[in-house]
Amino acid sequence: MPLHPIHSTSPMIVVANRLPFIISKDPENGKLIRKQCAGGLVTAVAPVVVETGGLWVGWPGVHLEDGIVEIPESDPEDKSPTAGLKSSQVVPVDLHKQVFDDYYNGCCNACFWPLFHSMPDRAVFQGDKWEAYKTVNQEFAALTVEAVRRLKKKSPNDVPLIWLHDYHLMLAANHIRAACELEGLEIKLAFFLHIPFPSWDIVRLFPWDDELLQGILGCDSIGFHIEDYCLNFIDCCKRRLGCRVDREYRLVEHNMRTVSVNHLPISIPYDRFVKLAESAPVVVKNRAKEQLLLGVDRLDYTKGLVHRIKAFERLLEKYPEHRNNVTFLQVAVPSRTDVKEYQELKEELDQLIGSVNGKFSTANWSPIRYIYGCVSQDQLAAFYRDASVCVVTPLRDGMNLVAKEFVACQTREPGVLLLSPFAGAGNSMHEALLVNPYETNEFAEILNRALTMPKDERELRMRQLRRREKHLDVNFWLRSFLKSVDCLADSNRSASRILPL
Ligand code: ADP
Ligand code: G6P
Repeated sequence: MPLHPIHSTSPMIVVANRLPFIISKDPENGKLIRKQCAGGLVTAVAPVVVETGGLWVGWPGVHLEDGIVEIPESDPEDKSPTAGLKSSQVVPVDLHKQVFDDYYNGCCNACFWPLFHSMPDRAVFQGDKWEAYKTVNQEFAALTVEAVRRLKKKSPNDVPLIWLHDYHLMLAANHIRAACELEGLEIKLAFFLHIPFPSWDIVRLFPWDDELLQGILGCDSIGFHIEDYCLNFIDCCKRRLGCRVDREYRLVEHNMRTVSVNHLPISIPYDRFVKLAESAPVVVKNRAKEQLLLGVDRLDYTKGLVHRIKAFERLLEKYPEHRNNVTFLQVAVPSRTDVKEYQELKEELDQLIGSVNGKFSTANWSPIRYIYGCVSQDQLAAFYRDASVCVVTPLRDGMNLVAKEFVACQTREPGVLLLSPFAGAGNSMHEALLVNPYETNEFAEILNRALTMPKDERELRMRQLRRREKHLDVNFWLRSFLKSVDCLADSNRSASRILPL
């Protein structure tokens, strides 16, 4: 589905840990195929690269040792957001298995993910993993410079816009900048963080916090989902690096450059989800008899899945009238399965769901339906459309796209969105019912309120939510991003690029 035209003056090079698909071998004929990945970054950014004819630098999901070197073209039947991405637009990053494991699992997943989600007790700090992180960032940077040369050869007057994504690549910018300066290649460098940026109290726990901040500051423009994350970052630059900062205009001065910090809330291709919902198969035939509570998440400890199931159990204890006609459908995508904490979470959840089902199931009804896997976009849209309540209750989340996708798919009888204030989405989706996932009793009360909410209130809330999300969709996000980069490039080239005293 094409996006609205996005007028980018520069060719865009997206650099992210992952390519927007995983490459694997078709077990039937051994042919290489693309497998779509779940995750906020891919859902939002892949259509943009397709639309702007850009390049994507990233890890293909396989290692050199696996002997896969070629990027296959997309399947003609592919309807995913990456379908239009040609193999010539893809730059695979081949990494040695051990180095990659230290960087991805050891540093990104075991350290940055919990730390940035303000769960420092879960974070593991290890010097050798940090070294691997640095090495891998250098490799990504080298391939990005290669991509710049390629684009420059084709159109020498263009100034490529390099867009680095997420916590995997916080050190790449300075390497890219240095190499391009040496060769006289003009570029623009931007970074977007898809997870929260925590407060100084948390960031300072990281033993190499100064290197980290300097790495991010290698970009010209830095984007976060919400204002709080911007202010946290600016605060850290001031306190740790002693940078001159302007909180009002969101500027940080570093190495004789002024870096702009922008709040750019990511969103979804709204119209695409509406279309999907309009033609999706029916899941719930009669809502008066059958109500569906829905959760859709990667299986991650930040998503608050255990808290959610416990609150549902409390609901069934306290309000027995919901037994037999309310079902909780939890769809959980396997994620980071090599990491111990994720394996333990899976076990805990399996046991908890088993015990709740054992406690309440009757001959004709089980309270929890649990899908551990990826579902197709059509199926997902059907769940979103037919759910009475979508339960989006992370303990911490950068933004959360599921909340937005649910709202877009509410094309029939309006349901209710339950949202944690600890998700970035809680900042703007004011008509949702806010729930603190840690407070089990209150959580159960709010679940009951959502299930029994009168139709006119549901309509009113959903209408407003839909109106906002339709307007502030992923195209809006991109336009805002491109505008922020354009403004910045102009001011950085002019003499007045340093903050006024
Ligand atoms: P995160 O980026 O932390 O995974 P988000 O809520 O921002 O969280 O994004 C999750 C994305 O993954 C959404 O676009 C959602 O549609 C998709 N997704 C989540 N679970 C599934 C699933 N089981 N099957 C297919 N897609 C999923
Ligand atoms: C979040 C992160 C992304 C990441 C995705 C899936 O959305 O912000 O950068 O790609 O989770 O996680 P994974 O570790 O499987 O790439």
